[in-house]
Amino acid sequence: MVNAVNSVQALSVLYDLALTIGSEVTVDALLTRTLQRFLYHTGFPAGVVYSRGAALDDPAWKEVRLEAAIGNYGLVKRKGECLRLPATLADPTSALIEADDLPDWFPARKPYRFCLRLPIPDFGAVLLLTPTAPDSALPLTELFAPIMARLATAITLCQRIRERTEALESANRELEAFSYSVSHDLRAPLRAIDGFSHILLEDYGGKLDAEGLRLLDAVRDNAVRMSRLIDDILRFSRMSVREMQTAPIDMTSLTREVADELQTALAGRVVRFDIAAMPPAQGDRAMIRQVLVNLLENALKFTRPRAQAVVEVGSTPDEQGNAYCVRDNGVGFDMQYADKLFGVFERLHGREQFEGTGIGLAIVKRIVARHGGRVWAEGKVDAGAAMHFTLPRAEAAALGEEETARE
Ligand SMILES: Nc1ncnc2c1ncn2[C@@H]1O[C@H](COP(=O)(O)OP(=O)(O)OP(=O)(O)O)[C@@H](O)[C@H]1O
Ligand SMILES: [Mg+2]
Repeated sequence: MVNAVNSVQALSVLYDLALTIGSEVTVDALLTRTLQRFLYHTGFPAGVVYSRGAALDDPAWKEVRLEAAIGNYGLVKRKGECLRLPATLADPTSALIEADDLPDWFPARKPYRFCLRLPIPDFGAVLLLTPTAPDSALPLTELFAPIMARLATAITLCQRIRERTEALESANRELEAFSYSVSHDLRAPLRAIDGFSHILLEDYGGKLDAEGLRLLDAVRDNAVRMSRLIDDILRFSRMSVREMQTAPIDMTSLTREVADELQTALAGRVVRFDIAAMPPAQGDRAMIRQVLVNLLENALKFTRPRAQAVVEVGSTPDEQGNAYCVRDNGVGFDMQYADKLFGVFERLHGREQFEGTGIGLAIVKRIVARHGGRVWAEGKVDAGAAMHFTLPRAEAAALGEEETARE
């Protein structure tokens, strides 16, 4: 049996382990899959158990609390169950486990000869049990040890990823909770300011002169503006924590859809939309829609002084994906501030001239970054602006499916 265990088999297990590391995210899944592959590749008629926290010379091994027991015909999960082991564990090759010592559920045949007991550093240990006495346990040890070492690395990575993911998730939850409580706490006094100034205007309006009325109006305007800023912070923070659902997106039809929607609100203005055929992107449709809404709204807003506004949307191939561009012939901006535009509440134009709070491009940047893309702006004072963003390419097969599903 031991002779059948060769380095090709060891390589197969290691190869499987490498694949598993990429796809499994829990320590249990890593362990059970690797140990199962080990049994499969070696054809070893054995039972394997693993346990957390047990070291090689740990007296606790006499009674092992199992994470799982694995047979070569499948996995028997008995988490938390105890397995009694003989006291002679100091000599693994001779320790015999009596049939009576093994529980009924234990995989593979009995009685077992305790064969190998290997540590997984910083985790616990694995027991390999076999009903037949191998000529020597040494080749098995040599085969098993490097696998356990890789497994240990994989487990460490796996645990680190889990810890970091948990930390990140908890930070995100805190951030969201903070935004909600801030918005809630700020809204109450804002409502009071608005409410009291309303009462002041109704009950005492007659006693105020023109300047008094103007100041009161300013108070109410600012209260409204502040409540809009709070709403914007909330929208921005939601975009950061929202779960993404990625699928192929037909960028041409999505842009047309958004343009049509915005055009209905353009009473009396002459705007020409020039939307080129664009390659599909891979992403969260609702979020990318928001990107297009924000960019097209800006293009429409900053072309308002133009008698004939032109908004062009197109794409160029990019090294990592597709680059898309929304270009307009509006008032433009000074290129030296190009990086500032994407910051929260950063604005280059006065509110009297162009309304807004300065959150639109910050949301665009956050959404594109969450898709692994980048954003940049080009512009010239009084000579229009171009906003660029990149997105991953859609997988062609998947897009075909989406198109078929829609038909
Ligand atoms: N197409 C554009 N042409 C000229 N300037 C632009 C254009 N798009 C954005 N900007 C400049 O970048 C600033 C930030 O844009 P952003 O969309 O974040 O905010 P906003 O449009 O002012 O307000 P909001 O989007 O929150 O309603 C704008 O105030 C403007 O100065
Ligand atoms: Mg905007």
